[in-house]
Amino acid sequence: MTEINKVAVIGAGVMGAGIAAHVANAGIPVVLLDIVPEGADDRSFIAKTAVERMLKTNPAPFMHRKNARLIETGNLEDNLDLVADCDWICEAIVENPKIKRDLYARLDKVRKAGSVVTSNTSTIPLEVLTEGLGEGFAQDFAITHFFNPPRYMRLLEVVKGPRTRDDAYAALKAFGDVRLGKEVIECKDTPGFIGNRIGIFWSTVATRQAYDMGLTVEEADSIVGRPTGVPKTGIFGLGDLTGIDLGPHVIASMIDLVPAEDPLHDFVSQDHPLTKLTAKMIEEGYTGRKGKGGFYRRVRQDGRTIK
Ligand code: NAI
Repeated sequence: MTEINKVAVIGAGVMGAGIAAHVANAGIPVVLLDIVPEGADDRSFIAKTAVERMLKTNPAPFMHRKNARLIETGNLEDNLDLVADCDWICEAIVENPKIKRDLYARLDKVRKAGSVVTSNTSTIPLEVLTEGLGEGFAQDFAITHFFNPPRYMRLLEVVKGPRTRDDAYAALKAFGDVRLGKEVIECKDTPGFIGNRIGIFWSTVATRQAYDMGLTVEEADSIVGRPTGVPKTGIFGLGDLTGIDLGPHVIASMIDLVPAEDPLHDFVSQDHPLTKLTAKMIEEGYTGRKGKGGFYRRVRQDGRTIK
């Protein structure tokens, strides 16, 4: 039976940093790696600044300072061997199947026998993620889909492939439940699993209606926020938090995956002016809190309503 006593998180962006902080808060040692940024003097800059970010989140830090010491930071070029004694390697890098698979092939050469590897993918099917990788890797692989921010969102979707070892899957579920305090839900390998398959509908309706009604982001978020059971950020604030560039990826990937007769195809038509506005924002670097700002900063600059 796989026992998880040490974790590696690969990718120190919005989700990877949050997952690493949450694991460290549970008292478990974590290795956090990301790419070497172009032109940076410090080759582990991304992972190191991610830890700092987790200590400064507002209104409360995502991580206690004493737990930050449990995180060992590094980069994927110089420090890949740090994953060798980790029992669970959780990948949280860009939502691109080829880039993820290339990483898995590298991890497979250094990870220890019996370790489990998971992806935090929002929508890429498990079978696509393991394509071309060996049987041994597929047996040790699953999806663990955390929600943002990992410190506060209770849901953890866990997806098993046809070849995933039962004991690896059981170890992940137990760890998510007992050590990380999550509400662990077993999902089938279906487009967007459960959370995103449903979430895409309500988030699209809410944001488009707010735009059509000429509301400000504050007005929209004061309604489609806490009072309606949405996280307190509200719906536009949620976009700024999760990353505005992620939404189009999730939608495009789901459109490719659902059958032609699925209502999703009509529902998320790309003609709405809000789709064009978000595309322009992404192009200009307004990808949300991780970028130059998002709906709050950029839209405010341009006037009161969401234009
Ligand atoms: P992000 O854009 O904040 O971070 C991605 C990280 O990947 C960056 O730190 C980047 O340096 C790194 N990266 C880029 N190219 C790489 C490469 N070739 N090899 C290794 N690392 C590379 O992305 P985010 O939002 O943290 O998403 C990560 C994963 O989590 C994605 O699969 C996404 O679909 C999923 N996810 C995202 C959620 C969100 O709210 N943002 C929620 C749940 C899942």
